[in-house]
Amino acid sequence: MKSFEEAKARLESAGQSHVLRFWSELSAEQRVTFLEELSQLDPEELSRHCRTAVEAASLQSSDGERLDAHMEPVPPEFIGSVRKSDQQTLKEWEDEGFLQIAQSKVAVLLLAGGQGTRLGVPYPKGMYNVGLPSGKTLYQIQAERIRKVQELSSVKYDSQCTVPWYIMTSEFTLEPTEKFFKENNYFGLEPSDVVMFEQRMIPAVGFDSKIMLEKKNKLALAPDGNGGLYRALVDNKILEDMERRGVQFIHVYCVDNILVKMADPVFIGFCVKNGADCGAKVVEKAYPAEPVGVVCRVDGVYQVVEYSELKPELAEQRHPGGELVYSAGNICNHFFTRDFLSNVAHTFEGKLKQHVAIKKVPFVDEEGNLVKPTKPNGIKMEKFVFDVFQFSKKFVAFEVVREDEFSPLKNADGAPVDTPTTVRRSLSAQHYRWAVQAGAHFLDADGNPITTKHRTAQDMVPPALCEISPLVSYFGEGLDMLKQKNLKSPFFLNEKNVMSLVEHS
Ligand code: UD1
Repeated sequence: MKSFEEAKARLESAGQSHVLRFWSELSAEQRVTFLEELSQLDPEELSRHCRTAVEAASLQSSDGERLDAHMEPVPPEFIGSVRKSDQQTLKEWEDEGFLQIAQSKVAVLLLAGGQGTRLGVPYPKGMYNVGLPSGKTLYQIQAERIRKVQELSSVKYDSQCTVPWYIMTSEFTLEPTEKFFKENNYFGLEPSDVVMFEQRMIPAVGFDSKIMLEKKNKLALAPDGNGGLYRALVDNKILEDMERRGVQFIHVYCVDNILVKMADPVFIGFCVKNGADCGAKVVEKAYPAEPVGVVCRVDGVYQVVEYSELKPELAEQRHPGGELVYSAGNICNHFFTRDFLSNVAHTFEGKLKQHVAIKKVPFVDEEGNLVKPTKPNGIKMEKFVFDVFQFSKKFVAFEVVREDEFSPLKNADGAPVDTPTTVRRSLSAQHYRWAVQAGAHFLDADGNPITTKHRTAQDMVPPALCEISPLVSYFGEGLDMLKQKNLKSPFFLNEKNVMSLVEHS
């Protein structure tokens, strides 16, 4: 559809011809790009989208009521747990995970199409430098963890292996992400093993069922949610790529968790040994209003109820002992078999729930003025990646230790939680614990020993600044060279200075 007449006819049939209102004012170049954008819209789908958006927005509260009446927590005995498992069992899961990785059957898939509105930076969140001594960005940390887990698996099972990295981007994030990876030589990964693909964008809808214009020649579009993954897998033939590479298990995760364990062998091994086709990592929720979804059952079926859709009364419910009833916090780390993904993408995608967000959407009014609304005026629809648990034949939840696995970057500094400062501290605290476990001692700038007598594991501020490159250690292993060493804070261990420590041990 590259002609004006065609575009007009299609928009008219969808009841949306108002978007061409400013056509006569557009330059030749603007017309071309606008027609290109409009050509992505299927009239039938567009009508359905607008109808569903308005209906879903009006049903929002009754949906919540229904949920409340049918929700129940997942009984603890149904949740695998790092804390409650013995060393032998954890080792078995880890070995299994490493074995699958060593056979190149495991891939990681990053959901990176979000706009990162809360953090408020104009570039993709993965490019954010959180202010570590190394200056590494989230993308670099993740890339280096992939390199390390490949190396550990290859050494353990004496095989050359690859963990391909699939990155789902959107119109907002594809270009800068590609550029950033190129400029940084893919952080040492093979470029052909980093596969970027784009999710779809869908129009914001006004309360009058009309799609909105962001400019006179541009629709107000937003990514279709991280559950847009399933359509994007088909659109971009990603499942075929996985099949060609022999990938069977996929670790899907979101971009902002600085502690994310890429292709975590323990989680992969746990899921594989349990014959799961779908799994979710959870942490114990820290406080009732924490912005994490909860893994629970609704009418006996596993699902995540998102924090934005959970009533405060339910979020605050506690057992007599004081623990939260809905405590299984979703950390957006999922396990899927390729077969399961394929089944969802080809058979069930149309059944995924449309979540509604009523937002302030800047728009061009009838007179052509750009309006920044002061109250919500538009409906955005999103699908969520976790809404597929219901289609699973064997779903498992796996509880991990927050201090080791979950510290997300959501907000700019100044907010009380999930900021650059808090994620930096979490990483530093973890690496400090690894170094101390390996037998190191820390000294302050004056050379005095740093004592940790009064500290608890939950303390936010680590006693010393410590950063260990993922290229040296993936989860605290291989740090014998730190034994009996006096390390001055801030201490940064990387693949270059590690050699001098080894020589002096
Ligand atoms: C998400 C989870 C929430 C979980 C929390 C943990 C979802 C829907 N919600 O919430 O249950 O407790 O993380 O930190 O998964 N993204 C896309 N495309 C989109 C929208 C988002 O790829 O259209 C990506 C983002 O880039 C990000 C991830 O999905 O990597 C999560 O999105 P975000 O909006 O940050 O979710 P949260 O509200 O933090």
